[in-house]
Amino acid sequence: MKILALMGSPRKGGNTDILIDQILLGGREKGHFGEKLYLYDYDTLPCIDCRRCKKDLPCPHQDGASHIFQKMEEADALIFGTPIYWYGPTAKMKLLIDRLRPYIATGKLSGKIGAIAVPSEEGPACCGPLEEMFKMSFQYLGISFAGAVLATAYEKGEVAKRLDDLKKAYELGKAL
Ligand SMILES: Cc1cc2nc3c(=O)[nH]c(=O)nc-3n(C[C@H](O)[C@H](O)[C@H](O)COP(=O)(O)O)c2cc1C
Repeated sequence: MKILALMGSPRKGGNTDILIDQILLGGREKGHFGEKLYLYDYDTLPCIDCRRCKKDLPCPHQDGASHIFQKMEEADALIFGTPIYWYGPTAKMKLLIDRLRPYIATGKLSGKIGAIAVPSEEGPACCGPLEEMFKMSFQYLGISFAGAVLATAYEKGEVAKRLDDLKKAYELGKAL
């Protein structure tokens, strides 16, 4: 199985990055192939609601997202990693989610499994709206929700000290 992780924090080596690596480690333990893309490395424009995709016409934005989409289509499992920013995902992650609109018509993400990795200062108690957003969006796209790692961490790399959260991430990767 191919696992693709979408790293939606601007901090390389930060908490989201560490959680994703643990998930991929667990997946590799089970013999899965794992890959990670840093969303902040790609120039991606926001959806402009032109509705061309509803008419089966190509998206007017041919940008960095094209590469991400190709990788997403090839993957069997998708990990969406984002820190909590104001009780939601980072702008870069939200921008990518908005751009998934063509997949409603094509159904090309349908049948895949998806999971989320989310660090925040306040911890799991503040992640309800974000988790629900992912669950509902996955449902719309035909992606089965495979689990969430909601960790408590604030400083860069702090989650590395949280052995319980690392274990949860590793176990999620193994269970994919
Ligand atoms: C713009 C911004 C908004 C944030 N909003 C929240 C928030 O609403 N609740 C919270 O618990 N943490 C919030 N945080 C803290 C981050 O979620 C936390 O530092 C996280 O561990 C960062 O993960 P990273 O190292 O992967 O970037 C915010 C951080 C930033 C920069």
